[in-house]
Amino acid sequence: MRRITIIGTGYVGLVSGAGLSEFGHHVICSDVDKNKIKELKSGQIPIYERGLESLVKQNVAKGRLHFSWDVHKVIQDSEIIFITVGTPQGNNGESDLGAVESVAKAIGENLNGYKVICTKSTVPVGTGKWIEDIIRTIQPNADFDYVSNPEFLREGAAIKDFMHPDRVVIGTRTSKALEVMREVYRALYINETPILSTSVETAEMVKYASNAFLALKISYINEIANLCEMVGADVHEVARAMGLDGRISPKFLHPGPGFGGSCFPKDMHALVATGLKNNSPLPTIEAAIKTNVSQKTRMVGKLKRLINDLNGKTVAVLGLAFKPQTDDVREAASKVVVSELVKSGVIVHAYDPIAIENFKNHFPDINYFGSWQGAVKDADACIILTEWNEFRGMDLGELKTLMKVPIILDTKNILNIQELESLDFTYDNVGRRKSE
Ligand code: UGA
Repeated sequence: MRRITIIGTGYVGLVSGAGLSEFGHHVICSDVDKNKIKELKSGQIPIYERGLESLVKQNVAKGRLHFSWDVHKVIQDSEIIFITVGTPQGNNGESDLGAVESVAKAIGENLNGYKVICTKSTVPVGTGKWIEDIIRTIQPNADFDYVSNPEFLREGAAIKDFMHPDRVVIGTRTSKALEVMREVYRALYINETPILSTSVETAEMVKYASNAFLALKISYINEIANLCEMVGADVHEVARAMGLDGRISPKFLHPGPGFGGSCFPKDMHALVATGLKNNSPLPTIEAAIKTNVSQKTRMVGKLKRLINDLNGKTVAVLGLAFKPQTDDVREAASKVVVSELVKSGVIVHAYDPIAIENFKNHFPDINYFGSWQGAVKDADACIILTEWNEFRGMDLGELKTLMKVPIILDTKNILNIQELESLDFTYDNVGRRKSE
């Protein structure tokens, strides 16, 4: 059992804190946001993530998970410090490391004996060295080891990803730090999870190279889907056949309205910025970013073709979250689509099972509904932007009866084309057959 402090109780921090306490460690999650810590102390979970609330509550009840806003004290009390603060996109696509810098300074000011300082936040290659320098500038003889331990958590599946990861990457400079980290992940080690030991810089790079590769795959299949539309091929069959080649794998080959979320877009920009800074450009990634931006607006073009003039029409937007099982709308295709629709004079009727409140912060003036049935009532067209199961299971007969005109754009390709045809829907999708 180790004494661990997590600095930055956001998404990654809270999931990691809960997961590490479940592994049996004594964990304190800290944050400068006193309100957030107050909420957590009173049993409220500030973010939606499947399974997180019960994991937090169980470990709080067992006395292994605590919360604190006294960052200075928790640094002093810990053996291992995880840095899990946000690294939003700053100028020129580079990551904004302001929060990381203030944590590094706080660590430098409070270090009291040997500790392992481990970054989980996604930070550009070279940040580890920079953090070490900040700490040593404040305390030249500081006794610590620096570790890079990137996270590979998917929103909506983060607890599962933390408890059963494909791999754990530990970038260290000393065998002493590696031993400590192996102990931190002992529970996984026993399960034979691959634990990869690398240099700090390699670990930093693994994170960006992995995310950018997954995002590349999506932009690639979206381009292929767009071409399928022109030549009369079906992208689902193409992707399935491609995916059966073990070298390709079927994952992340689902076409759609363009990827979103807090990670892929930001990380790709940051990787491109790192490439330019190091005189080693990444034109493939730059192209994938462009494809993703145009894929989102392409959906609006499709809708225009389906209903001719958008002005004054009522369009039901089903799905606002950037993907299912999350209420996160960051970089979601829905934001681009709704913004374009509003500009074109469309009356937007929006519905999402859980992301409405977050979406309201960006679009307070569109019409929100508590069910898909409410949103599609008397609509001139309907667009699906998130593959929530309740949209997969929609009764298309009921949908047709509720809508003014049976026009549907299924950007997630979740509806059955034969059924749409037998009900005489005018329909379109991404990369498959569309109505005549
Ligand atoms: C992503 C990575 O998958 C995680 O491994 C990583 O840890 C995380 O970023 C991070 O850096 O923290 P996440 O952003 O939660 O996780 O979401 P994904 O499930 O990867 O989906 C990202 C976007 O790609 C979504 O908009 C999704 O709809 C889209 N997508 C995904 C597709 O359009 N097609 C696919 O085949 C897969």
